[in-house]
Amino acid sequence: MPPPDRASEQALLQSVAIVVAAGSGERLGAGRPKAFVPVGGRPMAAWSLDAIAAAGIPRAVVAIPPGHGAIAEDALARGDLPLGLAFVEGGATRSESVRNALAAAGPDCEAVVVHDAARPMVTAGLFTATLAALAGADAAIAAARVTDTIKEAGADGIVVRTHDRSRLWAIQTPQAFRAEVLRRALAAGEDVLAQATDDAWLVERAGGTVRVVESPAANFKVTTPHDLALADSLLC
Ligand code: CTP
Ligand code: MG
Repeated sequence: MPPPDRASEQALLQSVAIVVAAGSGERLGAGRPKAFVPVGGRPMAAWSLDAIAAAGIPRAVVAIPPGHGAIAEDALARGDLPLGLAFVEGGATRSESVRNALAAAGPDCEAVVVHDAARPMVTAGLFTATLAALAGADAAIAAARVTDTIKEAGADGIVVRTHDRSRLWAIQTPQAFRAEVLRRALAAGEDVLAQATDDAWLVERAGGTVRVVESPAANFKVTTPHDLALADSLLC
């Protein structure tokens, strides 16, 4: 990865990271919120905070499950981490958690990079690459090329079409945004926010330009116990 140029260094200085960690982790079924489940010997969200600090992003706001302030401080706040860290209660949906964190980030950031705590394999380089790719776009999002053939089937299980794989991307986080664009996109109604599986869709539906930034498939989301076992073996 080439060193960041002056323009992207400037973007880093004025950026804030939002880590969404307020989900319950139902599909993982670990008996506690997924962000605090150990992986590679550390709470899952700690890996992402390290990558954010290593990228040179100065501040991070972490959305945590309501009532988990003390647990989050304990698990994630480290004196030696060169990162201004704040915690905020998340909402009932992922987008509401992003909205709460963005409100807590304050008005004076120009770029925001949103990341799932459930992707502990993220690298510092992916944070800087998405922020740098904001030049000329409203959003720049990590995405892996699709390697499986994707078919569409009806409710009866009968295939109706095969998509052109060369144009398909599996969307991940980090997702970088111009702060003002994300603020406007998140002002959508609760029903729209509840449908959003990522924030970039909210920008797309408002007519914004969203750019994909190729990322490794290794940046997968820990969703199931199988994913946790895989992440654990990679991070140990
Ligand atoms: N998230 C959040 N607030 C919510 C829901 C999700 O901050 N109300 C976060 C999760 O903590 C996670 C990311 O969004 O880091 C992606 O969500 P997902 O993988 O679905 O995590 P969970 O919602 O925790 O898992 P599940 O859907 O299995 O309960
Ligand atoms: Mg979820």
